[in-house]
Amino acid sequence: MKLMSKQVILTGIRANNDLTIGNYFGAILPMIDMATTRAEEFQVNLFVPDLHSFTTPINHRELQSAIWNNLRIFVAAGLPLDQPDIHIYRQSYIPAHSEMTWIIDCFVGMGELGRMTQFKEKSYKEDESKSGEDRVRVGLFNYPVLMAADILLYNATYVPVGDDQTQHLEFTRDIAERLNNKFDQELFTIPKPVKEQHEFFGKDQGLRIKDLQDPTKKMSKSDESGKGVIFLNDSPELAAKKVMSATTDSVGQVNLDWENQPGISNLLQILALFQHRSIEEVASEWQGNTQYGEFKKTVADAVKGFLVDLQDKLAQVDDSAVKTKLEASEAAMDKVAGETLLKTQKAVGLR
Ligand code: TRP
Repeated sequence: MKLMSKQVILTGIRANNDLTIGNYFGAILPMIDMATTRAEEFQVNLFVPDLHSFTTPINHRELQSAIWNNLRIFVAAGLPLDQPDIHIYRQSYIPAHSEMTWIIDCFVGMGELGRMTQFKEKSYKEDESKSGEDRVRVGLFNYPVLMAADILLYNATYVPVGDDQTQHLEFTRDIAERLNNKFDQELFTIPKPVKEQHEFFGKDQGLRIKDLQDPTKKMSKSDESGKGVIFLNDSPELAAKKVMSATTDSVGQVNLDWENQPGISNLLQILALFQHRSIEEVASEWQGNTQYGEFKKTVADAVKGFLVDLQDKLAQVDDSAVKTKLEASEAAMDKVAGETLLKTQKAVGLR
């Protein structure tokens, strides 16, 4: 039972077709680094929550390509495919996720789910959506239950999630405790509380990449023009142009000052990431420089170099190796999840 001997770190990364450099440096890279460094001591489960993908409307024809595109990006970002304690799998390939969701559903109140901030925010948006659909999906309402199943099936203790997901993690702890008490046995491992998660993973470093056109808001794919956003699949030339036309200020000299010079500070941040240095270090090198053009050119070249390199690595990813890894992980994880499901089915009287 080698699989059960190590504590489990687990996280799901939603498939998304237009990832930005913000996603890359803020989420993907730290996650891959975490997986690589922790896999000695822990079992690391990184999965694609594909069943969560259409809790809000998507283009279903693009889902497969989004899933594969993301898996390739993970590999290009350094995810090892030959590390036996890192498991990469697709949620929908392991039926226990859906089955466990149903069972948990029968022990959760509508009120609990209705209070979830993500549900309130997203259902509000859906209501006024341009999609012409006036229904808020039950799947969106039920999102946290599927997420709890994702975590509890593998007895995960550490679950790195962003601030927007901590409420769902607390919910997972509640429901695990509730069922353990109700059935008077340790059906589920209770994940560590959010505070301990932060201590373990280090509170996120507050990385903020801002929109190049409007540096007061976050760089996000939902930006309509795309001019302020660098996508991982932008051509390196286009990305360099976007940097050259980034909004700056009339101060006229480079300073790290998010308040008064958000555009310049953002470019310093971006440069620091691409040069693998701290923002303070990069800022002190450019501090006081009055040549915004020269500064931007340096950032643009760094962005270009990064994209050339990443896209080159992406082109070299061996899909069949990824598929082999996925299938091996899915078979192994199906066993683990199946055991937890069976235990639960017995507890509730289904077996
Ligand atoms: N809800 C997470 C997000 O949007 C993705 C996710 C699904 C997840 N299931 C999970 C994360 C289980 C951690 C554990 O980011």
